[in-house]
Amino acid sequence: MRIGVIGTGSMGGILARHLAKLGHEISIANSRGSESLTALAAEIGATPVAVVDAAKAGELVIIAIPTKAVTDLPKALFANVPSSVVVIDIGNYHPELRDGRIDAIDCGMLDSQWVALQIGRPVIKAFNNIFAKSLLEKGAPKGRKGRIALSVAGDSLDAKAAVLRLVDDLGFDPVDCGDLDNSWRQQPGTLAYCQDLEAAALRRALTEADRSRIAEYRAEQEARIRRSMTSQTAEG
Ligand SMILES: NC(=O)c1ccc[n+]([C@@H]2O[C@H](COP(=O)([O-])OP(=O)(O)OC[C@H]3O[C@@H](n4cnc5c(N)ncnc54)[C@H](OP(=O)(O)O)[C@@H]3O)[C@@H](O)[C@H]2O)c1
Repeated sequence: MRIGVIGTGSMGGILARHLAKLGHEISIANSRGSESLTALAAEIGATPVAVVDAAKAGELVIIAIPTKAVTDLPKALFANVPSSVVVIDIGNYHPELRDGRIDAIDCGMLDSQWVALQIGRPVIKAFNNIFAKSLLEKGAPKGRKGRIALSVAGDSLDAKAAVLRLVDDLGFDPVDCGDLDNSWRQQPGTLAYCQDLEAAALRRALTEADRSRIAEYRAEQEARIRRSMTSQTAEG
């Protein structure tokens, strides 16, 4: 597949690397321009491009940038991109640690619903609930005992099916989380968030999540990250 990856940090870089290794034709873009990506692109076998060209790269686009940066993307980025192109949002909203307050999300809009609204395109939510290190190291062949599962949420059944296949190809058991209105089940701090669960346990975690606790889950996750950053600093 021809895939555009917007954002080449921890997550975008790993996804681009793995997808290139699988034989996909990858275009990568960041905020600083294609020249800043020459070395990475050569190393992983991708093409460095501008953000607007990554959006037009082909059949699938992955948005792998901080939530607060979504509003900095070029206006009408997807205006001339065919509706058949699948857009994946891997983002998580971290208001205290990184993104600042986004009122619409604080008032109840789901992270990926907000992203979809900003870019004017439906998105599929995937890869937001695995840490970069696990994504890098823990993919495994289909059928391997202990294979980690990843959930995918979105409204278009065809687009979601394509992303579920990609999850499998990348070495993870694909689990359908439902439509985008169910994507809160895999947002930060939920039982399904970054726990490296197998498929049955992930399905259970998605089912047992409590919608009334979305903000609490998020705050708990931010507190966890803050504690882990403090202890890492203390350990030097
Ligand atoms: N790290 C994880 O373990 C993890 C796991 C799951 C999900 N996530 C989520 O995935 C998203 C990306 O996280 P990350 O850890 O990969 O972030 P990161 O390492 O900080 O990388 C962010 C990337 O986004 C690019 N970027 C920022 N603003 C941009 C813009 N306006 N246009 C184009 N590119 C832009 C940056 O490019 P420049 O360097 O050129 O600015 C950089 O390549 C976040 O929403 C995060 O919450 C992260």
